[in-house]
Amino acid sequence: MSKPSPVGTVMIAAARAAGRSLARDFGEVENLQVSKKGPADFVSNADHRAEEIIYSALAKARPGYGFVMEERGIVEGTDKSNRFIVDPLDGTLNFLHGQPHYAVSIALEREGKLLTGVVYDVAKNEIFWAETGRGAWLENRKLRVAARTRLNEAVVATGTPWHGKAEEMHANFAREMLAMTPACAGIRRYGSAALDLAYVAAGRFDGFWERDLKPWDIAAGIVLVREAGGTVAEIDGGDFMKTGSVLAANEELHPLIEQQLRHAAAFARKAD
Ligand code: IPD
Ligand code: CA
Ligand code: CA
Repeated sequence: MSKPSPVGTVMIAAARAAGRSLARDFGEVENLQVSKKGPADFVSNADHRAEEIIYSALAKARPGYGFVMEERGIVEGTDKSNRFIVDPLDGTLNFLHGQPHYAVSIALEREGKLLTGVVYDVAKNEIFWAETGRGAWLENRKLRVAARTRLNEAVVATGTPWHGKAEEMHANFAREMLAMTPACAGIRRYGSAALDLAYVAAGRFDGFWERDLKPWDIAAGIVLVREAGGTVAEIDGGDFMKTGSVLAANEELHPLIEQQLRHAAAFARKAD
């Protein structure tokens, strides 16, 4: 069994501490569902509380490292080589609706390269972690991406655009679904991109694609997929840390999913 590095150990402890706070708040969310105002403000506070726990734990253990955090934003460090990328609560909509599928996601980027990733599924108490060269792990189990090579046997996860996104993004997603649904065994939309990537690493999903994500949604999960032997790329060949459009799968399925997404783009050209 591989052990995380000292900084990996600190990141796991920070994720667990934030998870304890989220779990307590999640217990309250159900009671709030029935109030007219709903639990939205409460959840936003839960999110901020979790981020503060992570920030203070990591800043104390590694003073000088920089941060990119969903809520607080960028904190420049004196050490320009290292920065943590933090999503304190991934799957906010699930959390808000009392659905126990949400995660803490923490990555470490060193010299511009993703080095360590921790994704903590709080409700299931599952810590997924990976470090470059040390493999990807779920507790004591070494993770490997699924071995399936046929798209018609594959379960592929995705993320849907939502209210407020540009109409073209919704239309594009509809075309991608039109290309993907007949080709695979099933599509899933569970609502946490960090966990979607962790599930690809664990072989629970055969692939995952989503557009327009943020670095904190994907950074930790990317390390997990890579260390589990999978392939991660930007859907259109760019830099996924900039566009947030990501496709992850095993080596064989990756080009097959990519091809279906290209077909989707061809539907658009035909329609013009
Ligand atoms: C969201 C989740 C979701 C994805 C969204 C993200 P949040 O993150 O990862 O699965 O579809 O695009 O914004 O808002 O819950 O941190
Ligand atoms: Ca997120
Ligand atoms: Ca979030």
